Amino acid sequence: MEKNIAVIRGDGIGPEVVGQALRVLDKICEKYGHTFHYTDLLMGGCSIDAHGVPLTDEALEAAKASDAVLLGSVGGPKWDTLPGNIRPEKGLLAIRKGLGLFANLRPALLYKELGEACPLRADIIGDGFDMLIMRELTGGLYFGAHETGEQDGLRKATDIMTYDENEIRRIAVRAFDVARKRRGKVTSVDKANVLDCSKLWRAVVHEVAEEYPDVQLEDMLVDNCAMQLVKDPKQFDVILTENMFGDILSDEASMVTGSIGMLASASLGETKLGMYEPSGGSAPDIAGQNKANPIATILSASMLLRYSFDLDAEADDIDAAVQRVLQRGYRTGDIMSEGCTLVSCSEMGDHILEEL
Ligand code: IPM
Ligand code: MG
Repeated sequence: MEKNIAVIRGDGIGPEVVGQALRVLDKICEKYGHTFHYTDLLMGGCSIDAHGVPLTDEALEAAKASDAVLLGSVGGPKWDTLPGNIRPEKGLLAIRKGLGLFANLRPALLYKELGEACPLRADIIGDGFDMLIMRELTGGLYFGAHETGEQDGLRKATDIMTYDENEIRRIAVRAFDVARKRRGKVTSVDKANVLDCSKLWRAVVHEVAEEYPDVQLEDMLVDNCAMQLVKDPKQFDVILTENMFGDILSDEASMVTGSIGMLASASLGETKLGMYEPSGGSAPDIAGQNKANPIATILSASMLLRYSFDLDAEADDIDAAVQRVLQRGYRTGDIMSEGCTLVSCSEMGDHILEEL
């Protein structure tokens, strides 16, 4: 198979973790006889430094022309004081919107080997948990009008949240489709006791559910969900939710699995073109020190093979290699525990390559 991958290394630890994921992809090419062509694109702080904007039209067009996008991370303290419209994060929002990536899949699972890194009690962890957050990614508060001004001498700010039924329906369909391939349960999270957007969300999700009699649907209010995630994470299979709630809950879900450095994500739209990135941030405190955990990015590359290229065997191969390296006790600092061997970012890459 021959494919074009746009590579956005980005800021902070992005270049280091993407570097390891590319080594893994190269190894897969060698092993299975594929050819991947990589095109490096700038986005985020590095694009602001080079071009004055977080994402150029050229970079967006190049991403559109590729078969998949692999992303590291964007942002950092260097760009934190810039005005809102040229912040690194704007590049991320623009590429999500520009590529039509409305469905963000964030799997959060606890690897048995990482029980020690999990902050929850052993009786809550049980045999571990495995959930997937299906976050709506191109609507809601993130993409409504934002305004800061003054009224009657008072500073005032407004952010508008809007959803139409089509935006809700298409993400709900994705959630039910995935649930069917997993354990057959969707928990739809909203704030229907207060928000109109949530009332519409709930109504449309229930309409979609009628087409999936084999999938169990439950509604949960977002505040309750935040609590249930630490009280009994095992109850969740697929969590379906809107953009802002998904942003918050996915960080929480990632931390109950032990480390945000383990969590991959896929952002998908109507076509095969998807964007794959670790769920964590740019971790400026450890950037450039070869300390970051590359596993989330490597697992994101695995999701890329699975969802954009339909290369399931290759993706399974990567996932299994990661699991074996964990079984053998290799750990980066974020998931380190007693009796394990502390390794650097590139050493973690070495071990995963060996297992492939
Ligand atoms: C994420 C991040 C982004 C988001 C930021 C960097 C804009 O937190 O991908 O979860 O809020 O979507
Ligand atoms: Mg976030």
